[in-house]
Amino acid sequence: MTDTIPQLTGYDEPALDAAFATLSQEATQQAASLATEEARENFRLHWLGRKQGRLKLVSDAWLKSAPIEARKPLGMRFNLLKQQIEQVLEAPAVSLTSAHVQGIDISLPGTNRQPGIAHPLLNTMHEVVRVFHHLGYSTNLGPQVESDFYNFEALNFPPNHPARDTQDTLQIAGQQSRPSRDRLLMRTHTSPVQIRTMIAQEPPIRIVIPGKVHRNDAADATHSPIFHQIEGLCVDTNITFSDLKGTLDHAMKALFGSAVKTRFFPSFFPFTEPSADVQISCIFCGGAGCRKCKHSGWIELLGCGMVDPAVFAAVTAERRKINPDDDAYNPEKITGFAFGMGVERIAMMLHGVSDIGQFYSGDMRFLEQFA
Ligand code: DAH
Repeated sequence: MTDTIPQLTGYDEPALDAAFATLSQEATQQAASLATEEARENFRLHWLGRKQGRLKLVSDAWLKSAPIEARKPLGMRFNLLKQQIEQVLEAPAVSLTSAHVQGIDISLPGTNRQPGIAHPLLNTMHEVVRVFHHLGYSTNLGPQVESDFYNFEALNFPPNHPARDTQDTLQIAGQQSRPSRDRLLMRTHTSPVQIRTMIAQEPPIRIVIPGKVHRNDAADATHSPIFHQIEGLCVDTNITFSDLKGTLDHAMKALFGSAVKTRFFPSFFPFTEPSADVQISCIFCGGAGCRKCKHSGWIELLGCGMVDPAVFAAVTAERRKINPDDDAYNPEKITGFAFGMGVERIAMMLHGVSDIGQFYSGDMRFLEQFA
């Protein structure tokens, strides 16, 4: 900090303006770095100190010896400078870290806020769900941390059944003391929500269940250990396999275009009997055969089947814990079908994405294409 007061070059207005501007600038610069109480006190003493303060020195050097006619213009400028100093001291203390005094460059580009969009996987889930809403289905959701009972047992995967091997998953730790049916795991499919829905509701049921599922699968271009499924369940009197075929044929046409054909291949799932895999005619080559469909003309898209009576039996056993006479899911009176599809697989086909990892990368160059 400089202590000397420069000589006034004259008492005319420009000379006074220049002299006070220098002092004012000096004060402004110092005010920008008053991070501590100690710095503020030093600043106060430096300017307002009774004996050696800058204002006292200015008053001595410039005011006292000024000719009468210069007293007023000098005094006005002196008071403005004093006010500036006092305002600095009255302002609340600002820490240097939270408020740098910076110049504002108005030529810099502004902050551009992009409107958000739904993630392509969410969008695909919405599209599929919408198709089924138009058929009178409603939506249900279930927990991602699921019990062994809902994820496996009630779906007719008994303990140690080999079908469990294809659906290995993370188990929640520290549950050795629990009965096996209550042990928790990350759900491997959305099918447990079929059970939850039937325990809570009587037929007729028409429900779709979108959600996240987990499996011990190595990640590659078409697999991810966390992915998404959409489950469907329809239970009512007189539901037949042709209802299942008609419903899924319609849904595939609604999703991929009316030219798409479907075919049903025998398959196996513990919770449906009979079970089928649904294939659609290749949407890339129209069925002629290409690399995408491995030259078969068909692409496998989902699993389905008629609800196995063993599933209705498990549901009935649970419902009878609350109402011993419950007979809502008597397989002599009602039948149903179920289906399950992978959301990523559908999204990859709809958008021509060849690497599933792109959906999870958070790379804006990829995601922006869906805006
Ligand atoms: N849950 C099966 C899976 O993850 C998919 C599935 C197949 C669901 C057939 C169904 C079904 O509801 O009927 O592999």
